[in-house]
Amino acid sequence: MGGLPFTRPLRIIKRFSPRAPATYKIDFALYIEQISLLVEVMFMLKHRLMSGCAVGIAMLSCLLALTSFVQAQSPTSALNDPKIEARVNALLGQMTLQEKIGQLVQYSAGSPTGPGTGRTDYPDMIAKGGIGSLFNLTGAREVNAMQKIAVEKSRLHVPLIFGLDVIHGYRSTFPVPLGMSATWNPDLIEKAARIAAVEASSEGVRWTFSPMVDIARDARWGRIVEGNGEDTYLGQAMARAYVRGYQGTSLTDPTSILACVKHYVAYGAAEGGRDYNTVDISDRSLRQVYLPPFRAAVDSGAATVMSAFDDLQGVPASANPYTLTQILRGEWGFRGFVVSDWNSVGELIPQGVALDPAMAARKAVTAGVDMDMESNSYATTLLQEVKDGRVPQSVIDEAARRILRVKFAMGLFEHPYADESKGAITTLDPAHVAASRTVAEESFVLLKNDPVSGSPVLPLASGAKTIALIGPLADSANDMLGSWSTKGDAKDVVTLRKALSDRLAQSQGKVIYAKGTDILTTSDSGFAEAVSAARQADVVIAALGEDAGLMTGEAGSRAHLDLPGNQQKLLEAIAATGKPVVLIVFSGRPLILNWEAAHIPAILEAWFPGIQAGPALVRTLFGDVNPSGRLTTSFPRAVGQEPLYYNAMNTGRPADGVDLTRPPSNAAEKFRSRYIDEQNSPLFPFGYGLSYTKFQYSTPSLSAQSLAAASLNSGASALTVSAEVKNTGSRAGSEVVQLYIRQRGTSVTRPVRELKGFQKITLAPGESKKVEFKLGREEFSFWNIDMKDVVEPAQVTVWVGPNSTEGSEAHFTIN
Ligand code: BGC
Repeated sequence: MGGLPFTRPLRIIKRFSPRAPATYKIDFALYIEQISLLVEVMFMLKHRLMSGCAVGIAMLSCLLALTSFVQAQSPTSALNDPKIEARVNALLGQMTLQEKIGQLVQYSAGSPTGPGTGRTDYPDMIAKGGIGSLFNLTGAREVNAMQKIAVEKSRLHVPLIFGLDVIHGYRSTFPVPLGMSATWNPDLIEKAARIAAVEASSEGVRWTFSPMVDIARDARWGRIVEGNGEDTYLGQAMARAYVRGYQGTSLTDPTSILACVKHYVAYGAAEGGRDYNTVDISDRSLRQVYLPPFRAAVDSGAATVMSAFDDLQGVPASANPYTLTQILRGEWGFRGFVVSDWNSVGELIPQGVALDPAMAARKAVTAGVDMDMESNSYATTLLQEVKDGRVPQSVIDEAARRILRVKFAMGLFEHPYADESKGAITTLDPAHVAASRTVAEESFVLLKNDPVSGSPVLPLASGAKTIALIGPLADSANDMLGSWSTKGDAKDVVTLRKALSDRLAQSQGKVIYAKGTDILTTSDSGFAEAVSAARQADVVIAALGEDAGLMTGEAGSRAHLDLPGNQQKLLEAIAATGKPVVLIVFSGRPLILNWEAAHIPAILEAWFPGIQAGPALVRTLFGDVNPSGRLTTSFPRAVGQEPLYYNAMNTGRPADGVDLTRPPSNAAEKFRSRYIDEQNSPLFPFGYGLSYTKFQYSTPSLSAQSLAAASLNSGASALTVSAEVKNTGSRAGSEVVQLYIRQRGTSVTRPVRELKGFQKITLAPGESKKVEFKLGREEFSFWNIDMKDVVEPAQVTVWVGPNSTEGSEAHFTIN
């Protein structure tokens, strides 16, 4: 197929797609539109093609195109479509071994995110069919120029896929993913991902290396910023949301971009939180904790998966047949393809399982890594490996098949080119900017808000005021973009300083700004100016935190988790003025804020909020919006507590009832699972966050006192849990209602609490709402002593409450 006549009709179809429901079903209006479209196409062809026979063939092709549109729209069905498989087979049948290997090769064409290969001969390689994908190249014109070589010069005209790390927005940068997860609002995240897809695709990018769904329980790990925090259940919900947003309802939609769920797998469990480090976890935690978000993404139709850098149970994740083939393809039925991480195939050599690039390529491709990102090993060695019989030809065929399947499924053969008429994104769509602000507002977590002179510091009273704005993050546009803001532009950012000055100008107020210190310095030369600013003000806002580029994201692991440099000292000097202080923390991870929590009355965790950082913060500070973000990662009291996560096992000697704020004074206090010099609990727990209003919870009521394990296992029964939540304050606000369970009497130990449901609700003052949760097989099952994922008989405690440490409980038995 291909060629001009199909360009227009398929574009027309795409205009309908935003209206299509998530699970595709034919609605009557759409059906009529398809028929009229068919008629339109037939007329068009009739004019263009002279012979009746040609019209007949074209009509048939057209009908086929429409049939496939009707039948195979969701990403999952497209990847399972026999018609697509027939096209893949036909193409594979024409390809040489060299051309098949070419499909397995990927290079970075632009700014590298790792050590590059130094190759520059891409046009030449593409013309020979030697490259399957390029990444880090953007701009419709730039992308099309490369695509033209693939489509017009290569023997079989196989188009390239263009990828990019579109992690939290494209040009309209959203908060960093950890901040996005703190919204606890998957629908909102889906919208953000859709916006990212629309912008990225308009500049020729049809594949993002996102979402990162690595569970991260260790705040030292810099890449905790790129994911959804420490919880598997929430991670699954977010994984689904990102995939739906990126891929839309159909991969052939020109605004859809392929999702790439990464980093497969258990990369977040790096020992000591040090990036790229060894991971040695049990098979049970692998399956129970780390794999489920990947499974959720794959079940939602994610077309690609990225294999990770880590060495998992002694086998590198990029050469691991157990995870890449047995689990991903065998157990889950994944039909897309796997791309390696940047040079992770080449890194099999320093990891010690390969002696040279040929051995690395052989191990990776036979384990199930279909595409080699940037290591150059597949391109340079696989041909000989196959010729010498070390790699079976069938392995290459299968890898090429998976990549071609995705290319057909996304309609790349019909529409290889990006639409150049739109040009580069130079001005941001106001709707995208507004969405970025909304996500930022929902991501902020109010950690503390104590009264000063009788009323809470926040929200700030509007009206004329003098505010001292102090700190290295108050006016740092670059940091607001966060790590991996690949196409984010600092000039699109509205900083806190700018937004606050604008706001106060409206009410004849004044902002006195003093940077005070750099993020990472020991110099206190700016302190005097900052203290003087504080003295002149009614209230002080301190904007402190991490350097987004250096300290967060890839290779951004830290062994110390407090405010970097001498920022705490600056804060101490400001607080000593006696003025009320609001601390805004910008960070890509939980920081240790012990001194701050003890001395500063109001603390807001803002993560790195994206281009609308300033307006979102100002609206929150003045109460135009009520904070509704909740932590998705535990804030430690000390680095020595890491890895720290709420859903831990109880141990045989839990420290319940013991005062952990002081050293043990007798044997009963000492021989416990505890530290002698620190509490066990986090400073701020998972799920925690305050609001400007208050919510009250009823005791949960259950639809049954007991249910049979067998009927839960078969899906025949489920438990309904409901609780009444009331806004008892005087402002409207949103609450994240969280449901946790604990199971006892089971064949293996189960966590002290596990999140198994959440709903974000908005309540007017005095309003109450009944919130309902359904708990069935998915919520109660776990990997038991026989490594079977089943529901077992158990005594279950159920909590419904505002975070992982509060809530009232009810009890239930699984027989
Ligand atoms: C990162 C990936 C990223 C890739 C491509 C690697 O260094 O680990 O997350 O997708 O580079 O930029």
